[in-house]
Amino acid sequence: MDWNERYQVGDTPWNKGGPAPPLLEWIQRRGALEGDVLVPGCGPGHDVRAIAAASRESLVIGLDIAPNAIKEASKYPTVGRELFQCADIFALPKPLQNRFDWVFEHTLFCAIQPRQRPAYVPAIASALKPGGLLLAIFFLNPWDPDDEVPEGGGPPFGVTKEELDNLFTPCFQLVEEFRPKEAFPGREGREVVRLLRLLR
Ligand SMILES: C[S@@+](CC[C@H](N)C(=O)[O-])C[C@H]1O[C@@H](n2cnc3c(N)ncnc32)[C@H](O)[C@@H]1O
Repeated sequence: MDWNERYQVGDTPWNKGGPAPPLLEWIQRRGALEGDVLVPGCGPGHDVRAIAAASRESLVIGLDIAPNAIKEASKYPTVGRELFQCADIFALPKPLQNRFDWVFEHTLFCAIQPRQRPAYVPAIASALKPGGLLLAIFFLNPWDPDDEVPEGGGPPFGVTKEELDNLFTPCFQLVEEFRPKEAFPGREGREVVRLLRLLR
């Protein structure tokens, strides 16, 4: 089943009905994401609305490859300057290139096939203005040893901090990293938040 079909049949266990707790933790501790913000793989758009609600000035674009995700995201009342667009992060439309101050990543990186990861980094870089920031919640280890893991190992696919370093180092500088205190039930201690700055 592809992503769009999963929304069609309501098989969307990632949809927790609200924004990612580590994002709310960031906003509470560090303030809103100011400027133009892209949220790729936005799904139902809870993170998009949380970012838009925190800064009424920021333009927040939620992007998803699944038309049904965009349909669902668009059903919610508008809280700020948020918009939703159906597109593939690996074929970013020209008007979305080189224009964002921030990209916010949450559960897209772990959803794509690991072989797509080397292409993910330049795709994110292409969305950002020079010196733009990537704020990412990475799902390090989604599975317990006794879990029934899907064939192929995911999605979600885990990642190590070393892999993240190797993938992002050529394009991005790691500004800071922390283990979030807040998490969705079941994700406690399994995530890392990284702030990365585009090196161009
Ligand atoms: C695991 S879901 C997470 C959705 C959302 N971030 C959340 O936490 O509710 C992954 C999302 O990424 C979207 N997606 C997968 N591949 C994509 C791509 N190449 N470009 C844009 N979106 C993509 C899927 O349609 C899906 O909505």
